[in-house]
Amino acid sequence: MRISVIGCGYLGAVHAACMAELGHDVIGIDIDEHKIAQLAAGRAPFFEPGLPEVLERGMASGRLRFTTDISEASGSAVHFVAVGTPQIPGSDAADLRYVDASFSALLEHLSDGDLVVGKSTVPVGTAARLAELVENTGASLAWNPEFLREGFAVGDTLTPDRLVYGVRAGDDAAVAALDEVYAAAIAAGTPRLVTDYATAELVKVAANAFLATKISFINAMAEVAEATGADVTQLADAIGHDARIGRRFLNAGVGFGGGCLPKDIRGFMARADELGVGESLSFLRDVDAINLRRRERVVQLAIEELGGDVEGKRIAVLGLAFKPDSDDVRDSPALDIAARLRGLGALVSVTDPEAIETSRRVHPELNYVGSAEEAAADADAVLLLTEWRQFRELDPEAFGAGVGSRVIIDGRNVLDATRWRAAGWTYRGLGRP
Ligand code: UGA
Repeated sequence: MRISVIGCGYLGAVHAACMAELGHDVIGIDIDEHKIAQLAAGRAPFFEPGLPEVLERGMASGRLRFTTDISEASGSAVHFVAVGTPQIPGSDAADLRYVDASFSALLEHLSDGDLVVGKSTVPVGTAARLAELVENTGASLAWNPEFLREGFAVGDTLTPDRLVYGVRAGDDAAVAALDEVYAAAIAAGTPRLVTDYATAELVKVAANAFLATKISFINAMAEVAEATGADVTQLADAIGHDARIGRRFLNAGVGFGGGCLPKDIRGFMARADELGVGESLSFLRDVDAINLRRRERVVQLAIEELGGDVEGKRIAVLGLAFKPDSDDVRDSPALDIAARLRGLGALVSVTDPEAIETSRRVHPELNYVGSAEEAAADADAVLLLTEWRQFRELDPEAFGAGVGSRVIIDGRNVLDATRWRAAGWTYRGLGRP
């Protein structure tokens, strides 16, 4: 199939490359010339495991091209819109300017019978509004939310755990076109749900709201554990054995960040307010608050361990990305904590396997170094804030040789406390005695 993908960020670039991998003929379009130049040269503009290989194969096959010229969308049968919907500064609501701009630019290049497919996460009601504009051109609209996780984006796109098509009632042609796009996944038995627009839009934010709630639930338990001497990691293991609860997304620590969960729960609350059902989602206010409290808790732990004041103290921060296997620092708890400690006068040395450049753009004041050992040289305390494998596997004895004092705060509860204590470290986890 001939496919256009409008928006080549974390979502769109992966989607375009994976559609070519599936055998489709794909044109990726973005207004960012730098990004398109990189993609056109076969380079991934951000760190995502497996993406460079898929890009390379797509470019070599001749089935994958990139351009800044939206008119090249014409001739495609299916047009995916995968642009960002960030939080509006000073508000909880999602900023739809990129969605609106993409649709208005695309409209004049649509032909009768084309299918436009929204992938961006949007406030419920957006698809119904855009459908009218699309239908005026003779094309039709579907909303097909994306559930990929950064770090696993290629696998999640090629083999999703479900497909959701939000379509106009009775639009069998839209369903058939999407089935052709996703023929491989459908042949593999991937569940596929056909819904109306509003349900498809809600599925996406409901899923992220549930995941955020699960993480904040366990972080709330961590707060209670801290007040009682209990161990939240054992608590999570124990309740996780109940199949109705499940152990995944029950890791207490510095909380969730990234370009999706935080802004999606806020955007969802803002939209619910507009719809007069704000009360139904008022618990998400607590989910957000619990999440943000964990960052402050780590700062307080550092102050406690450093004798009541961090000013002039050397602190090493391991990890800046919002999670491992990503260079994304949007709303990253790790970067936020590092910046707060720096703001309190600490001498903060930070490192991350992939996220140094993305962090430096936001917080140039931090001292960036290339390895955990360099960050920890003469440090008064070490904070592990993103659980990259290379940090989880640090040897407490060898690593301890270079530090000023053996104090570690494990913001992700991933280190073996007994082993680190045996090597002479003061070990502090979150929600652990
Ligand atoms: C999330 C969803 O998981 C995807 O399904 C969704 O498609 C995506 O948002 C999106 O809307 O585009 P992602 O932001 O890549 O994916 O990251 P997650 O793996 O969900 O992790 C989010 C945050 O929660 C990270 O900061 C992670 O460290 C944190 N987390 C996760 C915890 O603190 N504890 C856990 O147990 C799990």
